[in-house]
Amino acid sequence: MTHPLPADLHCPRVTTRDGGPELSRIVAGMWRMTEWGMSVQQRIAFIEQCIALGVTSFDHADIYGDYGVEGLFGEALRAQPSLRDRIELVSKCGIKLISSKRPQHGIQHYDTTGAHIVASAEESLRQLHTDRLDLLLIHRPDPLMDFDEVAEAFNRLKQAGKVLHFGVSNFTRHQFESLNRRVLLSTNQVEFSPLHSAPMFDETFDGLQDLRIAPMIWSPLAGGRLFDSNDAGAENLRLVIKETADRLRQPFASVVFAWIMQLPSRPIPLTGSGRIEAIGVAVAGSSFTLERDDWFRILRAARGHEVA
Ligand SMILES: NC(=O)c1ccc[n+]([C@@H]2O[C@H](COP(=O)([O-])OP(=O)(O)OC[C@H]3O[C@@H](n4cnc5c(N)ncnc54)[C@H](OP(=O)(O)O)[C@@H]3O)[C@@H](O)[C@H]2O)c1
Repeated sequence: MTHPLPADLHCPRVTTRDGGPELSRIVAGMWRMTEWGMSVQQRIAFIEQCIALGVTSFDHADIYGDYGVEGLFGEALRAQPSLRDRIELVSKCGIKLISSKRPQHGIQHYDTTGAHIVASAEESLRQLHTDRLDLLLIHRPDPLMDFDEVAEAFNRLKQAGKVLHFGVSNFTRHQFESLNRRVLLSTNQVEFSPLHSAPMFDETFDGLQDLRIAPMIWSPLAGGRLFDSNDAGAENLRLVIKETADRLRQPFASVVFAWIMQLPSRPIPLTGSGRIEAIGVAVAGSSFTLERDDWFRILRAARGHEVA
């Protein structure tokens, strides 16, 4: 059963924390952009269509598309400079990939030295064809990470006006709170979906809720596995979500986005699709809430057992 989206669909806005950046409630993830095969004009049209839906925040990383996605997006901003002031740009740094674009990298590794954070942010600005990032995240916790050095690099970028807000990604509660004591962090971007519910149970979300900081959510549809995984647990989960969606006359994925956004830590999901309809379906998930029974039915199917 397909359920049409309302014509007046519009994404609300959210502030990640007191004094933090204002983002759209749904953020458009650009990780897969090289797969979309869009011309510059198609990239501009896609960004415009996202803005029309109220999805004004775009998630990047230096490494996406083998160090290529920021440049593709930057080409669109260069061709249509008026877009920049209508959107928020998020990027990440700290992973060094083996790539023909970075022949000096001998092994895949992390680098959270102050010198690398500043150089990577400056390269993101060049690639994105902009003078500022709204939010810069450390992509992964680095065993060699020196919290004081990261805080100092963030402060330097802020004072130079190159980055307005900072955060992290894939950090544990303890790692987040350690860095947040040294420099104000605006979010922790983590993986979460009905097929990956760990952040609800390992204190990640509880810790952020306590600090009144909204997490950002990557792979909210489990990277597409929610639709096509043949695993028995995933098949049952799919049936439960589908039954809920049909009863509520909502698209399947809207129910998943609603289920995520209902958490009191106010998660901000990222989309992963280059199809504007899929972005609309995510936005529709911000327009309704699930009854507790329905929310827990999805949790039960996700975990394969009742709560105790
Ligand atoms: N911080 C990190 O470490 C990290 C890691 C990974 C990702 N991210 C960010 O999170 C963003 C989202 O991650 P994700 O791409 O894994 O998100 P996702 O929404 O879980 O997965 C997107 C995939 O699901 C498919 N999909 C979406 N709607 C569908 C539908 N109705 N039916 C069938 N397939 C559907 C998409 O295919 P179509 O393209 O055909 O729609 C796409 O291949 C990324 O773009 C990136 O910005 C961050």
